[in-house]
Amino acid sequence: MNETIDRLLFEDRIFPPDPAFTAQAHIKDDSIYQEASLDRLGFWAKWAGQLEWMEPWTEVLEWKAPFAKWFVDGKLNACVNCVDRHVRNGLHNKAAIIWEGEPGDRRTLTYWDMQREVCKFANVLKDLGVQKGDRVVFYMPMIPELAIGVLACARIGAPHSVVFGGFSATSLKDRINDQQAKVVVTADGGWRRGGIVPLKQTTDEALKDCPSITACVVFQRIGGSHSITMKEGRDLWWHDLMAKADAWCEPEKMDSEDLLFILYTSGTTGKPKGIMHTTGGYLLGAYMTSLLVFDLKPEDVFWCTADIGWVTGHSYFVYGPMSNGATQVMYEGAPDTPSRDRFWKLCEDHGVTVFYTAPTAIRAFMKWGPQHPESRNLSRLRLLGSVGEPINPEAWMWYHTHIGNGRCPIVDTWWQTETGSIMITPLPGVTTLKPGSATVPFPGIEAEILTEKGKVVTSGGGYLCIKSPWPFMLRGIYGDPERYEQTYWSKWKGMYFPGDGATRDDDGYFWILGRVDDVINVAGHRIGTMEVESALVDHPLVAEAAVVGIPHEIKGTAIAAFVIIKEAGAPGPDLEKTLKQHVVDQIGAIARPEKIIFSSDLPKTRSGKIMRRLLRDIAEGKTLGDTTSLADPAVVESLKVKYEGEEG
Ligand code: WT7
Repeated sequence: MNETIDRLLFEDRIFPPDPAFTAQAHIKDDSIYQEASLDRLGFWAKWAGQLEWMEPWTEVLEWKAPFAKWFVDGKLNACVNCVDRHVRNGLHNKAAIIWEGEPGDRRTLTYWDMQREVCKFANVLKDLGVQKGDRVVFYMPMIPELAIGVLACARIGAPHSVVFGGFSATSLKDRINDQQAKVVVTADGGWRRGGIVPLKQTTDEALKDCPSITACVVFQRIGGSHSITMKEGRDLWWHDLMAKADAWCEPEKMDSEDLLFILYTSGTTGKPKGIMHTTGGYLLGAYMTSLLVFDLKPEDVFWCTADIGWVTGHSYFVYGPMSNGATQVMYEGAPDTPSRDRFWKLCEDHGVTVFYTAPTAIRAFMKWGPQHPESRNLSRLRLLGSVGEPINPEAWMWYHTHIGNGRCPIVDTWWQTETGSIMITPLPGVTTLKPGSATVPFPGIEAEILTEKGKVVTSGGGYLCIKSPWPFMLRGIYGDPERYEQTYWSKWKGMYFPGDGATRDDDGYFWILGRVDDVINVAGHRIGTMEVESALVDHPLVAEAAVVGIPHEIKGTAIAAFVIIKEAGAPGPDLEKTLKQHVVDQIGAIARPEKIIFSSDLPKTRSGKIMRRLLRDIAEGKTLGDTTSLADPAVVESLKVKYEGEEG
């Protein structure tokens, strides 16, 4: 069995760019890499000059490690760059968003429509008392109003914070309270797999304990007999407010370093952290990587399948493609509703040319079989992208063959919430592709592989590191500058540690191995082991819990939880179900453990630290390594016997 897997994993074909692709690409040769490395700041400044500024910057970078200011004193507005600029440049009637709801309803919004709607909602927010600097939280389905709302915030200088609609009431509450948000925007629901995601109901639950919120705006997505309760004095209908709103709102002149948004992501310890991105540098990254990595052209139809609740949706739905004036597809629902060809039908119907998705989705498509894409006309596709986790070579080859018809380059893009935009990636007209490798750093990005001590690894494995600041880097963790410094900049002095392990081959290509900290990447989403453990011990019957990641066919990694229950509890399928649901209620469905293993003890070091490595080995059924530092080695053996028994 293992041998078959090894053989499948081995892939040594390489894919040089097709000369025909190169001939039409924005970047046709590798001179951009030399240009960037000869004068990094000059390089970023040159590209920043393509954005529209209201006042020029005086200095490209002010670096007081680990605190950076980019394009110092420069003034601009992100919304103007994403909307007004295109309206002025003759693209007013170009489709900005081609949207499809899961039930099949369709809407197209032009850049002209976007300008009007964004202005109106910006005025709505102002009327609700939102001022420059006030935080606005969005808890919405994938509908155009989410993009409208986010851009309206950018227009008036109110940082937005989008919370993915799959998160629980507790998660929403924690995020609202951490940033003391003033207004929350939600919907009466969203469609997912034929059912209704009760967003308003969950918001009501969260708002029981959110004293900073003064108003809740509700978009009516579902309507009909789906009833929700509107709380007098707090809840307001989107359509009522918009009907009265003025169609022009003067954009705010924002400093390059003014906060654009806060997006929460999981870390090793504690609660999710609010990653802060500012205006100038972030927008440059989103703009430039969209243009060069996805080779965006005026005639392209771009579809990034990520929800705006994740950073991918921020950078490659809202800010990147829109600052380029692109036409984009937006889809509300699941890939298998009403049938497993839904994505390919969307590509066919809307003539998608550039498609960006996650390996977990590709693996699901593989499992569903090639007949689904084969039944659709995908001939408009010219470029494919992958993001979120390492893409295994089989999935890469399947994507290349069955979606790209052997024609389309695949850009495997490594980056993070914290990095703001793509960091390690091929440039499709230039880079020879190797399935499974994110290839090389984007021009201007200085990446390296280091040992624990900071020695450069030229060939072989180590820790991924970014050696110098870049314009679209995070500016900090909201309310916690120390944690920012500690988490990202303390492993090696003045250098950024992303938390990933990687290797480099003889051609200098990077192969990302995945997280080396206590973060699990489940289906491309980051979950902290501590978060899941806290959720489990929150249940009255759980005494102790330890969570590890285990390989999963579709998700890449799934969650396995070792749980010690109190005497009152009876281990068994019922409790297993209850505990899984408890985690879903506490965090959200993405954190649902795949497996719960009841145990009477957990392997710990003599100092009391849970030995996750050992648990992982047990959960994966590997032979156990050195257990001599264990307080009680017998625990491991009993766990192993127990677990294998349950497996069989
Ligand atoms: C983590 C960041 C970046 C947007 C989506 C996830 C993993 C991301 C790749 C890739 C291998 C990848 C890393 C990273 N990751 N892209 N192409 N190859 N691993 O953003 O939630 O902040 O997660 O995702 O482990 O640290 P995120």
